[in-house]
Amino acid sequence: MVEHYDALIVGGGAAGLMCAITAGRRGKRVLVVEHANRVGKKILMSGGGRCNFTNTGTTPENYLSANPHFCKSALARYSPWHFIDMVERHRIAYHEKELGQLFCDESSKLIVRMLLDECASAGVRVETGCSIEQVQARNPGYEVRTNRGVFRSDALVVASGGLSIPAMGASGFGYQLARQFGHDVLPTRAGLVPLTLSGRPLEQLADLSGVAFAVTATSNGQVFSNSMLITHRGVSGPAILQISSYWEPGDPLSIDLLPGRDALDVLQQWQAERPAAELKTLLGELLPKRFAQRLCEVWLPNRPMRQYNLPRLREMAATLAAWPLVASGTEGYRTAEVTLGGVDTAGVSSSTMESRQVPGLYFIGEVLDVTGWLGGYNFQWAWASGHAAGSAL
Ligand code: FDA
Repeated sequence: MVEHYDALIVGGGAAGLMCAITAGRRGKRVLVVEHANRVGKKILMSGGGRCNFTNTGTTPENYLSANPHFCKSALARYSPWHFIDMVERHRIAYHEKELGQLFCDESSKLIVRMLLDECASAGVRVETGCSIEQVQARNPGYEVRTNRGVFRSDALVVASGGLSIPAMGASGFGYQLARQFGHDVLPTRAGLVPLTLSGRPLEQLADLSGVAFAVTATSNGQVFSNSMLITHRGVSGPAILQISSYWEPGDPLSIDLLPGRDALDVLQQWQAERPAAELKTLLGELLPKRFAQRLCEVWLPNRPMRQYNLPRLREMAATLAAWPLVASGTEGYRTAEVTLGGVDTAGVSSSTMESRQVPGLYFIGEVLDVTGWLGGYNFQWAWASGHAAGSAL
C-alpha cells in the first residue's frame, strides 16, 4: 500500500528537521527521508563537537548569494532568538564564544536530541537508511520510490544539503532533483575551506605547520580579522576559512601581519627606541618567533633597526601590511564546511521557499545558493529557511 503524507522531506539535516517540526506542529503529516544511518551528522561534528548553533548578530550581510536579498525575509521571520528559545526550553546549556557565536556547553548531540524530541512531539516520522530511487511528479503531488517502499506526498521539500564532507552523507542529489524539475543550479565550489600552497610558497612555510597568529585577510574587497594557522598543506584558521569563500584561484590575497597597527609607525618607533635591536627579534615580540625568523629569511632583510633608511622602512611596512600569500587552491569538499552556489534562488520564493515553477516543490538550507560566513550563520539559515517552508506547505 502506498503511504500518503502532506510533506516528504528529503534530508534529515538541520534544515529538514526544522521544516518537519514546523509543519508537524501545524498538524501536517510529515515524513523525513534520510539516506544516512542517522540524522544530523553535520550537526554532530559541527563546532568541534559543540555545535555553533546560531549567531546573535546574524544579518543578511553575513551571507553570499547571487541574490543577496533572497535570505532577508526568512531570516527576519525566524531570528536567532527563536532558536535560542527552543534551546532554553530543552534546558541545553550554552555560551557565547566570540562575536555572537553560541555553542553548547556540553555536546552537539543535545541539539540533535532536541530536534528529534521536537519531531516526535510534532508527530513527524523519520526514516533513516532510506535511499531514494526515483522521484516523480504525480499531479497533484509527488511519488517517491525508496528502498523502504513507495511514498506519496502533496509537498516535496529538498533539504539534502551541499557537497561538503561526502563521508558524512553529502550528495549532489538535491541539485539533480532541482534540474529534474527544470531549476537552474549555479556553479558550486567549496567554501569555508583551508587554502593550499604549492611549490616555493609551500616550501617556505610547511615546516611551520601548527604556528598560528592574528591577521587581517583581504581578497576581492572582503576583509576578515581573526587567527591564521599554518598547516602542512597551506593555511587555515578562521580568517582564512572566511576569506576562502570570497577567493578563487588566481585572485589576489593579502595578509596584514600586524592587524590593527600601522606597520610604518611600529618600525619607526623601534628604530627610535631600540636602534641596536635586530628586526627579527622585535618582530618576534609581536608574531610567533619561528614565523618572525622566517619572514626575515625570505621576505624582509634582517638588520639592526638603525641600519634601515626611510624608503627601506616603507618597503618593509608595505610587506608587513600586505604580505602576499600565493595560494594555489583549496582543500576542496573533503574538508570544506559549506558549498557555495547551488539551486538558483531566482526560481524560488523568498518567503515560502517554494519553487516558482513547480507547485509543492520546496528547497531549503544549503542546497540553495545561500552560504553563510563562519560563526553559526549557516545553521541560522538552515533553521530560518526550514521554518519558512514548514510554515507555508
Ligand atoms: P545538511 O548537510 O545538514 O543535511 C542534509 C542531509 O541530507 C544530510 O543528513 C544528508 O545525509 C541528507 N541527504 C543527502 N542526500 C540525500 C539523499 N539522496 N537522500 C536522503 N538524504 C540525503 N555551520 C554553523 O552554522 N555552525 C557550525 O558550527 C558549523 N560547523 C560545521 C562543521 C563542519 C565540519 C561542517 C562540514 C559544516 C559545519 N557547518 C556549521 C555548516 C552546517 O553544518 C551546514 O551549513 C548545515 O548543516 C546545512 O544544513 P542542511 O540541512 O541544509 O544540510
